[in-house]
Amino acid sequence: GNQPVSERLVEALKRLEYRGYDSAGVATIDAGTLQRRRAEGKLVNLESRLREEPLAGTIGIAHTRWATHGAPTERNAHPHFTEGVAVVHNGIIENFAELKDELAAGGAEFQTETDTEVVAHLLAKYRRDGLGRREAMHAMLKRVKGAYALAVLFEDDPSTIMAARNGPPLAIGHGSGEMFLGSDAIALAPFTNEITYLIDGDWSVIGKTGVHIFDFDGNVVERPRQISTAAAFLVDKGNHRHFMEKEIYEQPEVIAHALGHYVNFIENRVVPISDAIDFGKVPSLAISACGTAYLAGLIGKYWFERYARLPVEIDVASEFRYREIPLSPQSAALFISQSGETADTLASLRYCKEHGLKIGAVVNARESTIARESDAVFPILAGPEIGVASTKAFTCQLAVLAALAVGAGKARGTISGEEEQALVKSLAEMPRIMGQVLNSIQPKIESLSRELSKCHDVLYLGRGTSFPLAMEGALKLKE
Ligand code: F6R
Repeated sequence: GNQPVSERLVEALKRLEYRGYDSAGVATIDAGTLQRRRAEGKLVNLESRLREEPLAGTIGIAHTRWATHGAPTERNAHPHFTEGVAVVHNGIIENFAELKDELAAGGAEFQTETDTEVVAHLLAKYRRDGLGRREAMHAMLKRVKGAYALAVLFEDDPSTIMAARNGPPLAIGHGSGEMFLGSDAIALAPFTNEITYLIDGDWSVIGKTGVHIFDFDGNVVERPRQISTAAAFLVDKGNHRHFMEKEIYEQPEVIAHALGHYVNFIENRVVPISDAIDFGKVPSLAISACGTAYLAGLIGKYWFERYARLPVEIDVASEFRYREIPLSPQSAALFISQSGETADTLASLRYCKEHGLKIGAVVNARESTIARESDAVFPILAGPEIGVASTKAFTCQLAVLAALAVGAGKARGTISGEEEQALVKSLAEMPRIMGQVLNSIQPKIESLSRELSKCHDVLYLGRGTSFPLAMEGALKLKE
């Protein structure tokens, strides 16, 4: 755009801080020269580097890194530079070792231990070979394998950012006389709510006034511009010590909101959400998810089996995708994901789609890839969950699964109208009961935390539906 950019970039990184990181960096082009500042540890370190040595410029890229290849040092922090090319990257370049050997044999000198640096070197090589910037970008994308969200600056074009997506999300934000790029619409929320999401295989050339998007083969493609809801949520902690605490206390409100979408509280009936999946007819249901969402699925399985007499196969998505289970195209598959972007869950979804199953998604992020690729979307309406250990998203997933199981029971005739009303009535009680629990539990939580901090180890036990809950509790305690 036209405004100084480095402070805005750091502000945007702060909005993604909840994802965790161990180093950070920012690069801009000022007076035709690429410059960067990087720092180990928290963003305050990067901010103090920028105070000592400010970065001017109205175009830039920035990154928070969680080390995978190479230690979390300043040297390994993004952006990576080589010969007038700057790169930031989320994901993993799987064939980096092979590319690195090839590039090193051609004389490239690597500065870092990261997989990402091969991207910068490949681009530099293609430029040296005489390719234009776009051609170099396209040629590089043809060589790298793996998962990536990439943003690239070329020193000789101080008005363009190039970006590519294969796996991790990328959101392009439309401003007025300025454009934005982020790995999440939340990062862009203070600047714009008009978002275009790239899909896997897309790459794009972003200038001040607009964007050109290409598919993997280089054809120009159009992707819809949508209004993101991220800006509607104030991502701050309010009066709470941390986001996780805030999200725990939001539960009664968000559960009521989620349930309101699935049930009619006046008549105590479930309301039909989508006719893309006919729960009355499907012979079985496959549920697949990761981590906390998987635990929600385990509980959902009990409910679908108990109330709808619907057999449920449930798997951790990372197993499901490699297990090659025989699937009946008459069945439906349900994928549970807070983010809607978990790679294993998405791969399982695509596997089921190839086998002709109807796909349902229980997601928080309605603009996510998993939501987009599903036949029926069941939003959990929890609002952004910033705390890494899931709280309100988990309970909203349960609320939605419960409502869906009751709806399935009704569609299959395995529960009567009266039973439906009784079940919906007890679901409708949940927000009030949760509120009471939260109010009464606070002093107990504080004394329990003091006791736990003195413990050497803790044993969690649970049975049936309580087992996944105990597991969830134990995992959180470990964190
Ligand atoms: C979060 C957690 C993680 C996630 C998992 C799946 O507390 O424990 O295990 O549950 O990474 O993420 P989503 O739900 O975004 O697909």
